Amino acid sequence: MCGIVGYVGKRNSQEVLIEGLKKLEYRGYDSAGVAVFTQEGLQVKKAKGRLAVLESQLGDAPLLGNIGIGHTRWATHGKPSDVNSHPHTDNSSKFSVVHNGIIENYIALKEELIEKGHHFVSETDTEVISHLIASLYEGDIVKAVQQAVKRMRGAFALGVLTEYEPDKLVAVRLASPLIIGVGEGENFIGSDIPAILEYTRNVYILNDYEMAVLTKESVELMTIEGNFISRELFRVDWDIVTAEKAGFDHFMLKEIYDQPKAYRDTVGSRINDAGTAVELKEIGMTAEQIKQLRNVHIVACGTAYHAGLVGKTVIETLARIPVETDVASEYRYRAPIITPNTLVIVVSQSGETADTLAALREAKRNGARVIAITNVVGSSVAREADDVIVTWAGPEIAVASTKAYTSQLVAFYLLGLHLGQSLGTVEAGEVAEIIAAMKQLPEQVEAILEQSEAIKGVAEQISTHNNLFFIGRGLDYAVALEGSLKLKEISYIHSEAYAAGELKHGTLALIEEGIPVIALATQETLFEKTVSNIKEVTARGAFVIGLANDGDEELAKSVDQVFTIPRTLPLLSPALSVIPLQLLSYYASLARGNDVDKPRNLAKSVTVE
Ligand code: F6R
Repeated sequence: MCGIVGYVGKRNSQEVLIEGLKKLEYRGYDSAGVAVFTQEGLQVKKAKGRLAVLESQLGDAPLLGNIGIGHTRWATHGKPSDVNSHPHTDNSSKFSVVHNGIIENYIALKEELIEKGHHFVSETDTEVISHLIASLYEGDIVKAVQQAVKRMRGAFALGVLTEYEPDKLVAVRLASPLIIGVGEGENFIGSDIPAILEYTRNVYILNDYEMAVLTKESVELMTIEGNFISRELFRVDWDIVTAEKAGFDHFMLKEIYDQPKAYRDTVGSRINDAGTAVELKEIGMTAEQIKQLRNVHIVACGTAYHAGLVGKTVIETLARIPVETDVASEYRYRAPIITPNTLVIVVSQSGETADTLAALREAKRNGARVIAITNVVGSSVAREADDVIVTWAGPEIAVASTKAYTSQLVAFYLLGLHLGQSLGTVEAGEVAEIIAAMKQLPEQVEAILEQSEAIKGVAEQISTHNNLFFIGRGLDYAVALEGSLKLKEISYIHSEAYAAGELKHGTLALIEEGIPVIALATQETLFEKTVSNIKEVTARGAFVIGLANDGDEELAKSVDQVFTIPRTLPLLSPALSVIPLQLLSYYASLARGNDVDKPRNLAKSVTVE
């Protein structure tokens, strides 16, 4: 969702901006643009479509200069078009702005500015910002931005340039991510670290209501009130190569194959040497505080929510605390019962999802303790939660989440065990058994990945259909929901996930000759019941693809095609059963000729509500 890059230094800024924007492509966008301070003044070039379109325009007529801002836009206000693309300028073209987020009061501001004689050319909320800053400018761009920000409601990360102070790049944030990269004789801004990692590993992470003033020699951090801030530089220690495709055709495929490593890294040193206990040092709650907990709320969006559904069963099984799961965009509005004895767990790969962040804040306002499970150190969610369990999946670039989801499952297993150990609800032998099974997961995932050619064949078969179903019971149902979402988002095939026993209450009417049904049957205690539900659909002509544990000969007799996963404990099986479904979606998307890593209409990091 919208990417920002800014540069001031000695290089040709156009190149830095384009390269940085390429690193942010994973966020999703529909148009792109840059503004560069050239010898002719502040020049803007922008174009609807992929970065390649802008790049070719810049190739024909480069913008030469050492300070600039760039942007990839994911349309919110106004359709994707050249004119709605960022950067936006004021009428004098002396001020230029890139923006990520939404200005909620932009209509009122726009009307006020129109009365003062400003003309607007786009449908965007962002254009209002450039006019507002221009109208408040009295010789000091920092002051003008501070005043403008105080008049704006909503969420924003901004990069601002003015021709009047051509050595300065001003950045400010409220509720949308922004980092500052510090180089030697050059400095950067970016929506995310990969945008600047080629040039520097030293970054400042801006907090809400903070701004930065960059020149090529200096970076000053301050609040929007103008109070200077001193902060330690954050040193990025992960490798840029990790964020590249490493020889795979797509990031999504690479990230599917990254999962054994992500499992190992996320478990990391969170288990004692003897393998008999989980040691989650990042959880600050004492055993006494854990004993006071009356309920748990798990709140997240999309795939992270699906991880939360598994987390519910894990925590209820191991810690015997009642757990509710909520989609973050609904949570605040149902007036949830949150008390100081409620533990709220927010799950977010990016740590920047607006709905999840709002849910976190609601939980804190009501006195709950908040644990965040996130993949991004220093993200908003990580900074605002009381405790953070980082999933060490490494950067996830493909829009469709894979390794972040499975690492979130690992985080839930660790947390469930940690809570269970503190409460005495899980026996020592069981803890050791689960830990031993978790240690086997990476190799078991590798064994599943070896079946990818066979899964590809089935994916090609289903790719010709427009509708299909996923069914499962218990944890298989939770995984079915994730499998269905994955398929929808990248293959654009409509699918629905159903609790297998619920089909006969209406949906069975949609089962017709040849319709693919993907049936998960990995939960031993529910196996026979699931087989009965499979019979209900085969009797009506469905083409059933079953997913069972190795050695479950029975399922093969009831389905058209079967895949198996290595045996593990039933509680851990989602960590394996989702892998064939990820591959199935990947290959179905490929077979349909889609842009796997950047599916239509979607953004990687959804920073608007
Ligand atoms: C699906 C997907 C989305 C995200 C959702 C939450 O593959 O990636 O459903 O899971 O937008 O994002 P985060 O986890 O960053 O809060």
